[in-house]
Amino acid sequence: MKILFAASEAAPFARTGGLGDVAGALPQALSRLVHDIRLIMPLYRAVDVKRHRLGEVARGLEVPAAVGSQKVDVLEGRLSSGAPVYFVRHDRSFDRDGLYQAPSGDDYPDNAERYALFCRATLEACRALGFQPDVVHVHDWQTALIPVYLKTLLRGDPFLEGIATVFTIHNLGYQGLFGPEILPRLGLHRELFTPAGIEFYGQVNLLKGGLLFADLLTTVSPRYSREIRTPELGHGLDGVLRQRSGDLFGILNGIDPEEWNPAIDRHIAARYTAADLSGKAVCKKDLQRRFRLPERAEVPVLGVVSRLAGQKGLDLLRDIMVDVMSLNLQLVLLGSGEKALEAAFLQAATQHPSKLGVTIGFDIPLSHQIEAGADLFLMPSRYEPCGLNQMYSLAYGTIPVVRATGGLDDTIVTFDPATGRGNGFKFDEATAAALLQSIMQALALFSQKARWGRVVANAMAGNFTWDRSAREYEQLYRHSLATRGRS
Ligand code: ADP
Ligand code: GLC
Repeated sequence: MKILFAASEAAPFARTGGLGDVAGALPQALSRLVHDIRLIMPLYRAVDVKRHRLGEVARGLEVPAAVGSQKVDVLEGRLSSGAPVYFVRHDRSFDRDGLYQAPSGDDYPDNAERYALFCRATLEACRALGFQPDVVHVHDWQTALIPVYLKTLLRGDPFLEGIATVFTIHNLGYQGLFGPEILPRLGLHRELFTPAGIEFYGQVNLLKGGLLFADLLTTVSPRYSREIRTPELGHGLDGVLRQRSGDLFGILNGIDPEEWNPAIDRHIAARYTAADLSGKAVCKKDLQRRFRLPERAEVPVLGVVSRLAGQKGLDLLRDIMVDVMSLNLQLVLLGSGEKALEAAFLQAATQHPSKLGVTIGFDIPLSHQIEAGADLFLMPSRYEPCGLNQMYSLAYGTIPVVRATGGLDDTIVTFDPATGRGNGFKFDEATAAALLQSIMQALALFSQKARWGRVVANAMAGNFTWDRSAREYEQLYRHSLATRGRS
């Protein structure tokens, strides 16, 4: 099978969150299943052309776009598995400081046009490169126009006809909403702008386009695939998702063992395995030093690495900071996002300098150092399609404390001292009190050496690699070929 992955970010080239991890790792796992799998993404300023040895494979490709046609170039690189990665170069759209937002935190005002251009360019690049995929696998609103274009504007195109599409929802909370005036600039016909089409309360909803026009839909955990069909977590699209229930599948993400593996991780102070955890103690000391906290092995260190967005529930942590700081623990937090939350955590750190360390920013080495050096990892998410950090934490023997939602619920089982089973701590209510209670429960276990050893061993024994998920995607691709053209 020939598969094209189209994504707006992918590790190791450019990433802002979990989508990038997935788009970089899943194609590699799929290429091990002997597929011709290729990836395409925009050439952002953040992509290091020299380091990744990218070379031009197409120049001056004409792409019909918002204002007349635009010329794009295509560069090619490789994933470490050898799978080709194409980069669409259109400097006016992508040679910018951020991927989706200016450094001020504001979305770029022309995001609809930028990603519409990327979607059209992706299809034109296939034509120019003579690569005719069986399936195009698209991700989130940025690439949702690919199935829309294939089924509307480009229907009947002899080269593109017959391509099946799979659309993966990584986060229903980001829908790509734009004013109706955008329609003609996306090349879309006004007749699509109805409640049964891509209209959504008076706006154009690009994600909805993907939900309506892709042959099959997936999301990144089984529980989230059920949750998004309910009004509580459907973000207004639960009706559409219920309509397409028969075509919607939940496949859990995996982790990339080359990137997130304490036995080989180059970012951390010492390597370690489940059989010999002495390196983890070195990492803990190193982490305490980095955050200028007292280097004490017996004090539990709690870690957070997260976007600071409402979804992540870190306001709950902020609300109990005084109580948390009264406990015998240390807390280190790395994140960026909502300015008010950033300010609240920074201020708390100045009040509790010997217990709380806060770094605002996006720092990949530090994210690994926290995963390795912390004892516990907090994810109090209001909703979480999958979540990768709880799986990274398990691999690093760092015990997750999570809210029972989405992929967090699918991957974490509360430790039961009676049976010795479980890999973390989980709470139900999205309240500060429930989070605090769960933290206290985890701290109580931390002080019981033998039981703590058991939960760490259970965590590290979990197997969340991509291979199992890749096989599920493979089956789905076959299924999409059978169902294409039906929706
Ligand atoms: P989401 O995609 O919703 O942000 P995930 O848990 O799926 O959540 O993935 C988040 C990814 O982004 C992880 O790889 C995490 O380590 C990384 N990440 C999040 N915030 C930061 C940060 N401030 N610095 C470095 N990496 C971060
Ligand atoms: C999204 C979700 C996160 C998921 C990631 C990768 O950003 O918020 O839960 O793990 O995508 O699928």
